[in-house]
Amino acid sequence: MRHQILLDVDTGRDDALAIMFAVLHPEIDLQAITCVEGNTSLENVVSNTLKILDLVDAPPVPVALGARRPLVEPPRDASWIHGKHGLGDVDLPPSGRQTEPTHAVELMRRCLCDAPEPLTLVALGPLTNIALLLRMHPEVSGRIKQIVFMGGSATIGNATPVAEFNFWHDPEAAHIVLTSGIPLTMYGWDILWSMRTPADQVAELCASPSQVRRTAGRLLGFEVADPSNGETVIYDCIGDAGTLCALVAPELYGVERRPVQVVLTPGPARGQTIVDRRAMAGEDAVHATAEQHPLVDVVTSAHNNEVLALFFATLGDR
Ligand code: RIB
Ligand code: CA
Repeated sequence: MRHQILLDVDTGRDDALAIMFAVLHPEIDLQAITCVEGNTSLENVVSNTLKILDLVDAPPVPVALGARRPLVEPPRDASWIHGKHGLGDVDLPPSGRQTEPTHAVELMRRCLCDAPEPLTLVALGPLTNIALLLRMHPEVSGRIKQIVFMGGSATIGNATPVAEFNFWHDPEAAHIVLTSGIPLTMYGWDILWSMRTPADQVAELCASPSQVRRTAGRLLGFEVADPSNGETVIYDCIGDAGTLCALVAPELYGVERRPVQVVLTPGPARGQTIVDRRAMAGEDAVHATAEQHPLVDVVTSAHNNEVLALFFATLGDR
């Protein structure tokens, strides 16, 4: 059965790879795309999204603009690593596609209400749009089959030593989603960053006659200077696209159902994900001080070579 999905993005180099995958994978039925400010400005997110849809010759798909800022804090982008416009140095022609005249939240609500069966939400940016949907239209929760999100981490962070970017950017939104009661799958930073693309494969992609493969290669091979020490950094992972691979090929991943929470308090731990991976009860349970936290299917391991093979095969060679 095909996965009927709504895709929420902050495109972003690896969101771009994810959009390619969502359009080209035969088991994904992409019903709509909603945009959120995150890795880059909302204007860039929308423009990049439409250009990538053109690149892969996507059939018409509704695209709507969503939140311009997190629920509480001001927006803080990641353009240092995604490039000034969010697609590294990839320069694609402007798209003639139009966006929907409605807000992302309304587009999601409409799709959920109109669909004959519950839909899967795949969220690849800060969870602001999804949190707004759940607060403004709680009645649609039952129309959501599951939320599969890139965000959080079972180990280290990237935006801070402990916080992953999407959770750090809007921790309150992450909290609303985590406590929604909807079945959740978390594809965190730790697993995302483990999925590096070998340099020879990036070079091969860049030399491909296929424009899709060449673009993927350039998105993966974009080099930036680390602002802390000037050293070259290459964000050569398929990133958000791996979240969709986990949806269509769960057999390639290890998953643990664990209690998950996000730290909301100000200070150095704000945005941190706490995944309880303990093998036995702790003193918090013994002394009845433990809080209950929602159980989330946390992706904890992957067959990297097979996942990369799936991703690159799906791009095809047109
Ligand atoms: O934390 C990793 C960041 O890169 C997130 O924004 C993720 O969605 C990817 O785009
Ligand atoms: Ca993203």
